[in-house]
Amino acid sequence: MELICCKDYEEMSRKAAETVAACLKKKPDGLLSFPGGETPLGMVQHFVKMVNEGEVDISRANYVSLDEWVGLGPDTLGSCAQFNRDNLFTPLQKEFANIHIINGANSQIEEECEKLDAYFAAYGPLTVSVLGIGMNGHLGFNEEGSDFNAKAHTVPLSPVTIGIMSKYFTEELPLTHGITQGLAQIMQADTVILIAAGEKKAEIVHRAMRGEVTESVPASILQRHPNCICVMDEAACRLL
Ligand code: GLP
Repeated sequence: MELICCKDYEEMSRKAAETVAACLKKKPDGLLSFPGGETPLGMVQHFVKMVNEGEVDISRANYVSLDEWVGLGPDTLGSCAQFNRDNLFTPLQKEFANIHIINGANSQIEEECEKLDAYFAAYGPLTVSVLGIGMNGHLGFNEEGSDFNAKAHTVPLSPVTIGIMSKYFTEELPLTHGITQGLAQIMQADTVILIAAGEKKAEIVHRAMRGEVTESVPASILQRHPNCICVMDEAACRLL
């Protein structure tokens, strides 16, 4: 794993966006995936700016969302679909060739897993998978114990995720499950970019990058990825 330790969140965001852009320049018809959550906002903003200023061409590129809270669609503030729409697709002045956004509000949620797998079959594998890391080491919604060989699937939210999820929402929501790209799909990406910021992530980043590779810390699987670039601020790298 390559480590790029940045002085602050702003530098992390810029470096991550530049790394995505460099991958896309090599494969302009590639498939991209960004996470939701707090960490990627700055990176997405930099990426949008680069596209709008003509530094990156997305006209042949494809995009797929990483995960979603089961029960939520784009109308709920804090959903991954809303994050993608408001921070990526709306400010972009150019369009991707194809996009696929998981619809967590589909009452037949298994259909969404099938659609996600079908999208990977048509447009995959990923050229770049940008990932955040959960406080328990989850990637997307691949919670502790997730199968390293899984494709798209739903998963019960872990107590750690349930404990922190209120930071994303303005109201209390009775969420119990997530739907996510599986670790097998993530691991097939040509390049994985793991982003993390803040002191609170230092310990789990250390366990994921330096600890045992184990399903109880899903992000530890990235130690086996041949081209994983960790772009983090100094606080998140503190224990490395
Ligand atoms: C969330 C999402 C992940 C995200 C992670 C970290 O629950 N399911 O896709 O990467 O947890 O989020 P944050 O960047 O807000 O710490």
